[in-house]
Amino acid sequence: MDKNKILEILNEYKSPMYLYDAGIIQRQYMKLKSSLPERFEIFYSMKANPLLGICQLMKSCGTRIEVASEGELHTALAAGFPVQDIIFTSPGKTIDELEYAIDKQIYSINVESFAELDIIRKIAQEKSKKANVSIRINPDYDAFGAGIKMSGGSTQFGIDYEQLMEGIANMGNTPHINLIGIHVYMGTQILNADNIVSIMDKIFEMALSMQTGTGINLEFIDLGGGFGVPYFTNDHQLDLLELKSGTEKVWHKYRDKFCNTRIAVESGRFLLAESGKFFSKVLYCKHSKDRSYIVCDGGSNFHANSAFLGRHIRNNFPMSILGKENEPLFEATVVGPLCTPTDVIGQRVMLPKAEPGDYLVVEKSGAYGLTNSPVMFLSHPQPAEVLVYDDAVYILREHGKKEDFLVGQKGLG
Ligand SMILES: Cc1ncc(COP(=O)(O)O)c(C=O)c1O
Repeated sequence: MDKNKILEILNEYKSPMYLYDAGIIQRQYMKLKSSLPERFEIFYSMKANPLLGICQLMKSCGTRIEVASEGELHTALAAGFPVQDIIFTSPGKTIDELEYAIDKQIYSINVESFAELDIIRKIAQEKSKKANVSIRINPDYDAFGAGIKMSGGSTQFGIDYEQLMEGIANMGNTPHINLIGIHVYMGTQILNADNIVSIMDKIFEMALSMQTGTGINLEFIDLGGGFGVPYFTNDHQLDLLELKSGTEKVWHKYRDKFCNTRIAVESGRFLLAESGKFFSKVLYCKHSKDRSYIVCDGGSNFHANSAFLGRHIRNNFPMSILGKENEPLFEATVVGPLCTPTDVIGQRVMLPKAEPGDYLVVEKSGAYGLTNSPVMFLSHPQPAEVLVYDDAVYILREHGKKEDFLVGQKGLG
C-alpha cells in the first residue's frame, strides 16, 4: 500500500494503530493449505489474533478454528464458525467455560488432565449431554527446533504419554464422554520443515499404537503445527516444498489406518504474522549519553512481542520510518511512553533520521501483537485495528478512549 493511503488511514483512525492486509492472510492460507495433504484441515488458532473481522476472514478462507477461552469461543461463534469446526484447548478451562462448550456441543474439547476429564464428565451428566473430547498428549520427546517448546519434559500442557493407557483404562464406561481423538501441540515458530514432518510422523505412530492398545477408533487427530515465519536477519523461510513432500509421504504411510479420521493442524503465526504492521507516532527524539532515542506513542504496552518481554534473547523486529525507506540510516533506540526501562521496542536499530510526527512501522506484527500485550499498563487508550481488503478499509476495532478505563469500575460508591 502506498504511503499516502496509509497516512490517510492513520489520520482517520489515529496512532498507535495495527494495519492488516487481507490479501496477505489469504495468500498465507493458500500457501499452507497447498503444502499439506488434501485431507488435512487447518484450524486457525485465534490466540494469534482474536479480532472478529480476522476470524470472519479466516472462515471465508476455509479454516476451522481453535479457541482457548470462553471469550474466544463466543467470538468464533459470532464469526459464524459451525460447532463441528470448533475445538477448545487450554490447560485451565473453568467450569463456566466447560459448561459453555458442552452446551454449544463443539466438536472437541481437548482435555489436558484426567481431573479436567472428570469435571467434563460430571457437567455433561448433569446436563444429560455427551461431550466430545480429545486427549492432549505430552509426548516423551520435545519439538526439535521450536522457538518455544511446549512438550517433552514436565509441563502443564497435556497428559504425559506414560499416563495415557492407564488413565484411559480407568475411565471405564463413561456414557457422557465421547473420546474422539488425540491432540499434540509441541511448540511454536519451527522453521525447519523436516522437524515438523518428523513430529507429525511420531504423532501418527502414537495415534496408531493408542488405537491398537485401546480399541478406540480415532475420529480426530490434531497434529498441532508450529509453522514458523522468519522474523530476524538469520531466519529463513519455512521450506514449503519440503513440507509438502514430507507430509504427503507421512500421510501416505498412515492414511489406510485413518480412512475416516479428521486430521487437523493448527496455525496462528504462519497465517497472520506477515499480514500486520504496527504504527506508532514519533513524539520526541532525544540523546542521552552515547545513545539516540525515538520516543513513540505506543510501545511494549501494545506490542510486547517487539519488546521481547519475557524472552531471554533480544532481537529487533524489522522496522522502518514511514516514507523514509531510502534515507541514510543511524543507530537509535525506539521506546514507548511507559515509565519502565523495559519499554524498548527496538534496541540500537538502524533507522532513518526520525522527527516528531513521523510514524515508526514495525513489520510482521499480525500475530501475537495486541493480544499478547499488557494493554492496561499506564492507561493509554488501545490502538485502532484496521484491515485493508480488496481496496476497502475496515475498522475492526476502534481506537480506545480515556473513558474506557472507567468502564466496569464502581469506585467507592
Ligand atoms: C495449543 C496451541 N495451538 C496452537 C498454537 C498456535 O501456534 P502458532 O501461532 O505458532 O501457529 C499455540 C500457540 O501457543 C498453542 O498453544
